[in-house]
Amino acid sequence: MEAQAVNRYALGLQPQNSTNLSSLPPAEPIMHAFSSLLLLGTFVFQAVLGRPDGTRVRREGEILKRSVDSFVATESPIALAKLLCNIGASGCAASGAASGAVVASPSKSDPDYWYTWTRDSALVFKAIVDTFTNSYDANLQSEIQNYIAAQAKLQGVSNPSGSLSDGAGLGEPKFNVDLTEFTGAWGRPQRDGPALRAIALISYANWLISNGYTSTASSIVWPVIKNDLAYVAQYWNQTGFDLWEEVQGSSFFTVAAQHRSLVEGSTLAKTLGSTCSACDSIAPQVLCFLQRFWSSSSGYVIANLGTSGRSGKDANTILGSIHNFDPSAGCDASTFQPCSDRALANHKVVTDSFRSIYSINSGIAQGVAVAVGRYPEDTYYNGNPWYLNTLAAAEQLYDALYVWKQQGSITVTSTSLAFFQDLVSSVTAGTYASSSSTYTSIYNAAQTYADGYMAVVQKYTPSTGALAEQFDKSSGTPLSAVDLTWSYASFITAAQRRNSVVPPSWLASGANSVPGTCSATSIVGSYSTATSTSFPTSQTPKGGVTSGTATATGTASTTTATSCATATTVAVTFNELKSTTYGQTVKIVGNIAALGNWDTASAVTLGATQYTSSNPLWSATISLPAGQAIQYKYIVVNTDGSVTWEADPNHSYTVPATCATTAAISDTWQ
Ligand code: NOJ
Ligand code: NOJ
Repeated sequence: MEAQAVNRYALGLQPQNSTNLSSLPPAEPIMHAFSSLLLLGTFVFQAVLGRPDGTRVRREGEILKRSVDSFVATESPIALAKLLCNIGASGCAASGAASGAVVASPSKSDPDYWYTWTRDSALVFKAIVDTFTNSYDANLQSEIQNYIAAQAKLQGVSNPSGSLSDGAGLGEPKFNVDLTEFTGAWGRPQRDGPALRAIALISYANWLISNGYTSTASSIVWPVIKNDLAYVAQYWNQTGFDLWEEVQGSSFFTVAAQHRSLVEGSTLAKTLGSTCSACDSIAPQVLCFLQRFWSSSSGYVIANLGTSGRSGKDANTILGSIHNFDPSAGCDASTFQPCSDRALANHKVVTDSFRSIYSINSGIAQGVAVAVGRYPEDTYYNGNPWYLNTLAAAEQLYDALYVWKQQGSITVTSTSLAFFQDLVSSVTAGTYASSSSTYTSIYNAAQTYADGYMAVVQKYTPSTGALAEQFDKSSGTPLSAVDLTWSYASFITAAQRRNSVVPPSWLASGANSVPGTCSATSIVGSYSTATSTSFPTSQTPKGGVTSGTATATGTASTTTATSCATATTVAVTFNELKSTTYGQTVKIVGNIAALGNWDTASAVTLGATQYTSSNPLWSATISLPAGQAIQYKYIVVNTDGSVTWEADPNHSYTVPATCATTAAISDTWQ
């Protein structure tokens, strides 16, 4: 506590009480924001009257879902465009920033975020690389290449944390936007940066390898990753500042990222025909240490060890869990997977800690979404909810829903019981198969709960779609840094998970086994500036670019499997390429009830989570009867409700009647 007080004084980082609210843009309610406001009102009402019957809950969940569908469709392209605006050299809000430098926010005063943070940049680029991996986009690829070149350069910039010679300089949290050192007082070092950057770069190296560009991964990307991995293996056991740049100690978020980076680093090294022996020997020790953050007596993850004066309840831990999500790792508790009993128990404790302290949350029952801040004791700008933390609370639940569906069951333990009872009050510990009604009740309630967090963000997002850092705990007005790049990245990843778009698996087999005794060993690394940073041109996907002319005529593809029962329903994914402008939404309407019987008011909204300017993809997955012949068209719905139809003829399609339970159609606006 004392050290913290001294530090803050020395750093001049006291909380600012004099934010000029009148200088902030007003929150303009828009149609969909307004409807979610009504919905939230319904939930508050629910809280007062007690739980309504199952049918009403389901109906309200459906209405909420549709409202969030439309928010996600509108906000997705805005979030990506505004995120790219904050990246130099050509980003529309980043003029003056170096090529590949991610500016935290264009705000130059109150607060001044006109810097590039290693953490923010890495999280932003992890989201970009995953988006790119899902759907090739030449523009995103050049952003990724510029980012990697900028990081290679930054690693060699000596700064107040040190230099590259012994690796210490890699722990510097932020730099000027022209990639020179920032010499002002700050909470340094912050040891999550190198780990997060390694993770982002490894994901691009993996894409390169799978598409036949292994030598690019080896010669350009690996040398940068190698320095960061060496830093993690050497310094993981030393204290540093947490992700909120306030307390010195050991932070869950940091240690979780360190573990992941070493595991993935080891796998990548082997794939490249090299080794990372420091990764191999240190990773289990980091995992061993990570277990110490779990307090079984308190039933939640203690965010920071070695610090006093706080409850330890902190969205730090939710972020740590979602950023270590592995869709193939099940509900593993040692790596705090989003659906693990520990992480779910923690989700409840952390989100509940904000219910009584923000007046915009007042009266909202447990198990119904609220606005989420950093930690309850926060005083920065007087302590408010943050967009990125509210989105993280949603994302954790979408991750869990994805895994439950994959594994076909939900397990409730005594650790996670309280979390589940908020959703289905009668539930008891046990494993519920997807055929059971308890599974269905929990699954639907968790989906509604997750959508509720998106609806909170929707409610406090102005009609421009701009996402600041915070929103006021009493009025909901956007607050602190405008257009926070990290807020946009958080929206994008939450929206992708909602759409079942998940990142690649990273947890190597056995990498979640915790050693019997922990030891605080570390390995001194060797470091050198990565000098080769110009990427070869035309590194397009191995299988060819799947967008554009390849699908212009609307080709359909079907996934087939051998020896299985004929499907009764098929989840058909409709992919439509249509360039739209802010506020426009693409929908599908057709001749059967599931497609609205040609009534545009009942059309199904497509999602734009994978939309980019060069690959303007809208898509929706709709469950249809196998063998059913359908006719349909896409429509564009404008903000004023007016509708533009595709030209004739109608599209025709017959849902396959095979054992395949999924199918996909690729169309282009006609
Ligand atoms: C600036 C940091 O970025 C922020 O996280 C912190 O809360 C304030 N300084 C106050 O210490
Ligand atoms: C303050 C946040 O606490 C910190 O996590 C972030 O890196 C900086 N702002 C820049 O966005």
